[in-house]
Parts: sequence; structure tokens; C-alpha cells
Amino acid sequence: MPDFPWDLLAPYGVRAKNHPKGAIDLSQGTPVDPTPDFIQKALHEASNAPGYPVTTGSPELRRAIITYCRDQLGAAGEFDVLPVIGSKEFVAWLPFMLRSKKVLIPEIAYPTYRVGAIIAGAEIKEVGIDATKWNTDSGDLIWVNTPSNPTGRVHSADEITAALAHRSRGAIVAVDECYFSFGDSKKPISTFQLARGDNKNFLTVHSLSKRSNLAGYRGAFVAGDPALISRLLELRKHAGMMAPAPVQHAVAVALGDEVHVQEQAMVYAARRKRLAPALTSKGFAVDFSDAGLYIWCSNGEEDWAQVAWFAERGILVTPGNFYGKGGARHIRIALTATDAKIDEAIERILHS
Ligand SMILES: Cc1ncc(COP(=O)(O)O)c(C=O)c1O
Repeated sequence: MPDFPWDLLAPYGVRAKNHPKGAIDLSQGTPVDPTPDFIQKALHEASNAPGYPVTTGSPELRRAIITYCRDQLGAAGEFDVLPVIGSKEFVAWLPFMLRSKKVLIPEIAYPTYRVGAIIAGAEIKEVGIDATKWNTDSGDLIWVNTPSNPTGRVHSADEITAALAHRSRGAIVAVDECYFSFGDSKKPISTFQLARGDNKNFLTVHSLSKRSNLAGYRGAFVAGDPALISRLLELRKHAGMMAPAPVQHAVAVALGDEVHVQEQAMVYAARRKRLAPALTSKGFAVDFSDAGLYIWCSNGEEDWAQVAWFAERGILVTPGNFYGKGGARHIRIALTATDAKIDEAIERILHS
């Protein structure tokens, strides 16, 4: 396994904590806004759960996921769905479960795509974010992440379609859309919609962690090719990978509501709108950052020097190299801090 990168950031956390007004942690994309009351209530309602939950999901949850896929993602044709215990475990174990030999991952990406390939003992091939420019064989599993962590880049329809085309050469295309609900200056396009009912060798993973602020519950789902879902279900049944029953109910209830999601999207958009100009006024160029929870930016220096610049101001941000060598001159700033903390960070960026 690679070194756990967050350990390398710890000394900068100590530096940030030494700031007279304390540290502001903008390094992790962990939601801080409350889980909506109606979802908390749903969790509580289902808290009497003496029996085992089913791996395939309760009928209520399966209905909710299928309806979400059809209504919000434009899913058509034959597809199946499966709850998972947060999308990280799915990302980490998918190549192992599929017995993948060669996995294509974005060159700047959420680190767990690489970790999953390592667990599977698979060859890893890094590819550019734009699939229309790929000049590679297809491997047998391809990860696409739109909107992307860490860049906040929203893939175009052409790029996603180009990735999906690798299915005709035998690859399984897995699209991580866990930030799908948080389009800002660009709206993400659902891969289901672009698959136009041909879901063979296609999987998409969605998470409630950010969409509904329930990262602590561990609720996500995968949807797509019924044959692949059936293979994954069989394995997961044997391996005890079932979502807890109270969480299944809470996820079903959360998926039925888009109002709280729109409200949260507006909160992130407002934070980005306030923070980005403060950064640019100090010489940081903001790249992509059109959706999702992050600002991806650079002042042209090495990433650790930029992390140190923020740590002196009591702000902890993430160095871009955590996401691949191509990120080594960028930093990632998470919008997952309260409005008050974002305002305090802006104050420190502008005036110290
Ligand atoms: C791109 C991406 N995929 C998956 C995850 C995992 O999210 P969770 O396990 O909370 O669903 C994250 C978390 O930050 C992420 O950034």
C-alpha cells in the first residue's frame, strides 16, 4: 500500500493549530452541515432492527434507488441496483471482485482508485481526464469520476461517451458520480443518460455522504449492468457486505427528496463564490472547480510550499500530489467548513 498520505499533512496541522485564533481545517471533504432532520428521523424510526438486513436492499430501498436512477439520472433500458456501505468500500473492492487485471485510473484522482487496483494485484494505467484523447488499450476496468475529486472538473458528454465506447473492447466502465448533485458553474451530465439504455459493462456509483450530509451513516449505491450487479451481489452476500437496516431506510427516505440537496448545493456554491475571489486576489489561479466540494488552485509554486503558506495563516489545505504527480503544483481546498469558518479563512487570506 502507498503511505497513508494524511500522515504527511499532520505537521502542517500542528502549525495551523498554533495560529492565535486556532486552526481552520479545509483539508478534508467531510460534511459539516447537519444531516437534515427528516433523515435523522428516518434513521431513528428504523432503529428497532433485530434481524439481519438483506444485501440486495430492502424492497423500499430498491424502489427508491430505481426511481432515483430513472427520474434524476435518466436511466433507461435494463439495469439493476445494489446498496453499498459508502462508495469508498465499493471503489476499493471493485477491481478485486471483478478479478480485474488492468485498471485505468485518472492521472489526477481520488486515491482509492489506485488502492483498489493494488488490492486486486492489477496493473495500473494512468490516463488523462479527457477520454477523447486516450491512446491506450482499454484494460478491463476503467474508472471515470465526474465531477472529479480533487479538481471539480465536470466531464463533457463527448468525454463520457468516449469512455463508454471502450466497453465494445471488453472493458467495464465504472463511473463515480458521488458529487453529481453539486453542479455549480457547470451541471454534471449523468452517464446513465449517455448510455441511452445500453447498460452492458457499465456501472455507476452514487453516494449519500455528500448529497445528503450522511457520511457518518455510510450509505451509497451502485447501479448499471444487471449481469455485473448480479455477480457483485453473489460475492457481497458471501462476504457479509450488507448495509445496516436503519441506514437502508434513511437512504430510501433521503433519495426521495431533492429539496435538501438543492439547498446544500446552494450553500457550497455560495462558499465557493466568496472564497475563490479571495484566493485569486492573492495570486492563486482557480482551475476547473465547476462542481463538487472543492477549489483546485495554484500560485505556481510547489504544492507543499502552498500548504505551508496556508498553515502560517492557521488554515489546513491538501497538497495536490496526494491525487497524483500531475497535482504537485496545486492544492485542494474543501468547502466543508461552516460559513463562519469560511469567512474567517477569507479574512486571514486577505489580511495576513
Ligand atoms: C471521488 C470519490 N469517490 C468516493 C468517495 C467516498 O465517499 P463515501 O465512501 O463517503 O461514499 C469520495 C469521498 O470523498 C470521493 O471523493
